[in-house]
Amino acid sequence: MMKKVIALALAAMLIPGLATADPRNAPKAAGIESKNYEWAKMEGEMKAALDVKGDAKKGEEGYEICGACHLPTGAGRPDGTFPQLAGQHTTVLIKQMADIRMGLRDNPTMYPFAKELHDPEELAHVSAYIEKLCVPIDHGKYEGPDAAEQIAKGKVLYEKQCQECHGKNGEGEKSKFYPVIAGQHYKYLLRQMTEIRDGHRRNANPDMVKVIKPYTNEQLVAISAYQSSLKMPGAMCKPKGKK
Ligand code: HEC
Ligand code: HEC
Repeated sequence: MMKKVIALALAAMLIPGLATADPRNAPKAAGIESKNYEWAKMEGEMKAALDVKGDAKKGEEGYEICGACHLPTGAGRPDGTFPQLAGQHTTVLIKQMADIRMGLRDNPTMYPFAKELHDPEELAHVSAYIEKLCVPIDHGKYEGPDAAEQIAKGKVLYEKQCQECHGKNGEGEKSKFYPVIAGQHYKYLLRQMTEIRDGHRRNANPDMVKVIKPYTNEQLVAISAYQSSLKMPGAMCKPKGKK
């Protein structure tokens, strides 16, 4: 009897999927199936925030502090120092915030501010507010004289290796924690791609890491140029009216 219990416990430890993808851990509010997060730990603050139905109205106030860097529109900065957040899926925002707060994704600039959010409820509300913001059209793009060529090269790679997760128009997939890429600044994309390839973003998706590992710096430039050219129909901000 005892032997059997020990053997079972050992088996559970050896198969990490058993511990992390338990369907009983599935977050209620977001309606996410356990197979969608086998690669991420569904626990603690992330799970608690996903259990809450976010209220965008309640999140507006909590977002004020974020606007100092990410701007009140959620556009971030074209120089890539601060990413665009507007239109990002709540699931992605919650995961990234929880990872940053836990120290799983290094972000020394933002860490003290991320710590300011009080509890998982506030995290859910702020994320709901951000998700509703339109995706800015005038973000940072690749601006070299060979832009057309880089975008064409990047498109081939993207369609072959990235589209299945990040979508044809860079829309990602909410229920699987796949981020929206459309409208993101070129320089931020290039930095993240490089960090993910080189193993510096520890919370990355292991399947994506496999895909990106063999990429050369030139290929990362091309694929970032292409991603920053993507537009999500219906989600982009309207161009400013002519004066
Ligand atoms: C002091 C500046 C600063 C403040 C204030 C700030 N952030 Fe950030 N944030 C950053 C920086 C810098 C990064 C990108 C770090 C990197 O390159 O990995 C970032 C990244 C993020 C990301 C990851 C985006 C992605 O695409 O993966 C999220 C989500 C985020 N911030 C949300 C917030 C929220 C919500 C708040 C308010 C509670 C906030 N930030 C406040 C500087 C800030
Ligand atoms: C198996 C699905 C999958 C594939 C294939 C994949 N990705 Fe990802 N990607 C993800 C997930 C999940 C994340 C978020 C990881 C996390 O939680 O930190 C991500 C993150 C990113 C980010 C960072 C976004 C941000 O806002 O910080 C970029 C950029 C990106 N992927 C681009 C690509 C490109 C380009 C390719 C093809 C070369 C690719 N991905 C292939 C799933 C995938």
